[in-house]
Amino acid sequence: MTRPTEPQICPSILSCDPAHFAGSTAEMMEGGADWIHLDVMDGQFVPPITFGADLAGSLGKLGDTPLEAHLMTQTPEAHFDGFIEAGCTRVIFHTEAAIHAHRLCQSLRASGVESGAAINPATSIEALLPLLDVLDFALVMTVNPGWGGQKLIGSCLDKVAALREAAPDLPIQVDGGIDNTTIRSAWDAGATHFVAGSYLMRAPSIAEGIAALKTACA
Ligand code: DX5
Ligand code: ZN
Repeated sequence: MTRPTEPQICPSILSCDPAHFAGSTAEMMEGGADWIHLDVMDGQFVPPITFGADLAGSLGKLGDTPLEAHLMTQTPEAHFDGFIEAGCTRVIFHTEAAIHAHRLCQSLRASGVESGAAINPATSIEALLPLLDVLDFALVMTVNPGWGGQKLIGSCLDKVAALREAAPDLPIQVDGGIDNTTIRSAWDAGATHFVAGSYLMRAPSIAEGIAALKTACA
């Protein structure tokens, strides 16, 4: 992959009112989202519980914007098939939860979806380097996972820069604390994909928020 000329904005539905997931997702799709980011939490890998593959299946029917599943779960492989069958074309598991991370990447690719691996703020990029031959996508968490609305941890951007140097063509996503004031530093560090949750909910409209994030990187 060559670096996209524009940042790829991946709105998360985590900060939406669950009673209005469909309306908010449609607004994201119509507002220029490049991907819809689904934060899946199991109450074990992180304390909260969010939703499962059924919701992905329903939201996917709202438009053509691709869906990615960010699995903040133990035994992530137990959930692969459900989210793939629900239409997610990128599945991201946490290296901290994977005993056989390389095999899990192989398995995602064999299922015809992009293989994604995530690292927490306390995890070094060394966890990703042995996966590079089977990895389509890296997620460098910029907050500790579990909740929206947290402040970006600056040291995580140093890991983005180091990973960019080690893997010049790898798509790199940042997740947590991204807004119109922080996105530029992540883009400059080498990130290509940007999750945004609470910032878009605070924006005058989701479309305006997405546009402001893109403008901040121009
Ligand atoms: C946190 C989730 C994020 C979260 C980001 O565990 O993985 O995707 O929704 O929310 P903001 O953009 O509010 O930091
Ligand atoms: Zn996420």
